Amino acid sequence: MSLIDKVLSRRSIRAYAKKSIPTPVLDNILEAGRQAPSAGNRQPWHFIVVTDEETKEKLSWGRVNWFIKDAPLTIVGCATDAGNWSSMNTTIALQNMVIAAWAMGVGSCCLGAFKEGDVKRLLNIPDNWKVVALVTFGFPAEGENRFPENFQDMRERLTTKKPIEEIVSFNTYQAP
Ligand SMILES: Cc1cc2nc3c(=O)[nH]c(=O)nc-3n(C[C@H](O)[C@H](O)[C@H](O)COP(=O)(O)O)c2cc1C
Repeated sequence: MSLIDKVLSRRSIRAYAKKSIPTPVLDNILEAGRQAPSAGNRQPWHFIVVTDEETKEKLSWGRVNWFIKDAPLTIVGCATDAGNWSSMNTTIALQNMVIAAWAMGVGSCCLGAFKEGDVKRLLNIPDNWKVVALVTFGFPAEGENRFPENFQDMRERLTTKKPIEEIVSFNTYQAP
């Protein structure tokens, strides 16, 4: 599959196979983050790879993040609190990881559902770092609906993409 097919076929994966991610695959995912662009090349990020079962359990407290405990690992993306672009840079690095992972068959889901204070305490993250996002990674569970039962009421909203004409205009802004 070509890279463009990989980018276009990526979808958030919330059901994971009970299979760990081989070290060379994880190394590539992390390297894809390391090679991401950043303003002034400041690389204002730190990534915590959470594999510990008890820690994953503690991170999975709610309806929209319960699958953290099922994923073999979750990467917690942190940004320095200095500089306007640090969160954006870190987000871009995480997305590089997401695409690299999918290119190797590893699914992921970006999570905004976290309590920053709790995550910082749990993972010993110093005060001068922000938590930007959590991203679960793992091989998709075979035959399982990537959209689990308890998400069905949100299915339409979470899976429908706006038409291209609505989100793009050329040269000047044009209302859809
Ligand atoms: C910043 C951000 C936060 C998100 N937070 C959550 C979340 O807390 N729980 C969840 O299940 N999905 C979360 N998602 C995944 C979105 O629901 C998903 O990207 C969206 O529905 C589009 O579906 P797709 O990724 O399959 O294309 C988040 C995505 C982004 C980019």
